[in-house]
Parts: sequence; structure tokens; C-alpha cells
Amino acid sequence: MSPLAVEVWRGGAQGAFQSFEVPRHPSQTVLDVVTYIQRSLDATLAYRFACRVGMCGSCAMSVNGVPRWTCRTHVDKVARESKLVIGPLRNLPVIRDLVTDMRGFFDKWARAKGSFGGTQTRRDDFARVPPDSADRKQVDAGIECIGCGVCYSACDVVAWNPDYLGPAALNRAWTLVKDERDGATLERLRAVAGDAGCHACHTHMSCTERCPMRISPTAGIAGLKREVAKAALRGKL
Ligand code: SF4
Ligand code: SF4
Ligand code: FES
Repeated sequence: MSPLAVEVWRGGAQGAFQSFEVPRHPSQTVLDVVTYIQRSLDATLAYRFACRVGMCGSCAMSVNGVPRWTCRTHVDKVARESKLVIGPLRNLPVIRDLVTDMRGFFDKWARAKGSFGGTQTRRDDFARVPPDSADRKQVDAGIECIGCGVCYSACDVVAWNPDYLGPAALNRAWTLVKDERDGATLERLRAVAGDAGCHACHTHMSCTERCPMRISPTAGIAGLKREVAKAALRGKL
């Protein structure tokens, strides 16, 4: 196999791509390529990873312009004529090389009231939510988000409007709106109803196409739009 010609982003926002040549091997992942460069060619290359098995989401990068978990992306599937272009996730500030600053991303989860608002005390019995209830099924469809930022990086509306809450924070808000144990629904609907909230989504579906967990933030955002409209018609917002 001919070696891979790899372009890797170096530096911060004003950085540039640097070329490396990396040997190919069977079942090689994009994370293997980045790791080879850092261990064998340039120890100063900054990147993140942890689990290497698609559980933590920390290895997300842009590969040939598409946001992906690099540990779950095989070189054979994405290399074009033995070439790869690897950069940091789009829509997030670059700290250095392939490492982005996720603080703004998670601040938006807080802005979307993405934390559970409990109504029970420790003396109450466990809440029992039937697994086959309609709301529970909608929660289940969105609950496995691991906060990797792939959908956020894929979203053009975030690129146009950096204030937009984005697919992950809105998906989180949706799972809480549908959680019958939560008592902060109105507060949450107010938080997502503004100009930078669910109504800013253009339903491009890029988030849904790219989410490695097969979550559809687009569906959740559509649900939020419906719930916001219903609450507004009832004069509650
Ligand atoms: S919705 Fe999917 S792509 Fe977006 S942060 Fe969660 S797991 Fe990652
Ligand atoms: S569906 Fe909405 S949130 Fe998802 S990528 Fe498109 S504009 Fe962004
Ligand atoms: S290193 Fe954990 S998902 Fe890739």
C-alpha cells in the first residue's frame, strides 16, 4: 500500500496545514494516523482522545471536511487517493492543532436549561416511567448523547449565528421536556424560544446525518417548536 499523504492543522485559528507521510496498515483508523504522527513524526502535535472505542466522543475532528469520531473512522473509507485532511471541529474555537475549546458548546446546554429539574425528595418513592409510554420513547431516542460536538460542528446555522444554541443543547432540552419527572418545562421552553433557540433551526438535517449515536436532533428541535407554539397559544410563555 502506498503511504498516506496527510494534511494536519497546526496552530490556533490563524494556523496552517502541515504535510506528513504516514505508512498504511489494515484496519487503520484516522485516530491511528494522528497518533502515529504525534508519536513518530512530531511530538508537539496536540489532539484529544480517551476511550478509542466510540464511547467518550473526545476524538471528534474534521476529516476531509466532515466531522467524525476519528477512533471509529477507518482510513479506507475516507481517504481520497491516499490523501487525508484532518482539522479541528468546525464552529468551536481552536486551542491548538486538533484541540478545540468546548466551553461555549456546554455553556449553551446550560442556557437551554439542560439540567434536570426534580420535583421529588429523597423520601419519595422512585418514579416509574413506563418504557412503552409515548414520552418515554421520545426521551429514549435522544438520551444517549455523549456531548461529542459532531452535530454542532456540522450545523451551518451555528456557523452563521454563533449565538444559536445548536443541535446538541436543544436535543438535551427536548429529552427533559419529555421527561415526566422534570418540573422545569416552562422555564426550559422560555429558554429555547428566543431568536437563538429552536426557531433558528433551518431543518438542514446535517446534525442528524452526522450524529454517530444515531440521534436525530432535528426531530427533537421540531418537537420543541411544537411545544413552544402550544405554550405560547395558551399564554404561558
Ligand atoms: S447529538 Fe450526537 S453528534 Fe451531537 S453531541 Fe450528542 S452524540 Fe454527539
Ligand atoms: S437540523 Fe437544525 S440543528 Fe440540525 S444541522 Fe440543520 S439547522 Fe443545525
Ligand atoms: S476516543 Fe472515545 S470516542 Fe473516540
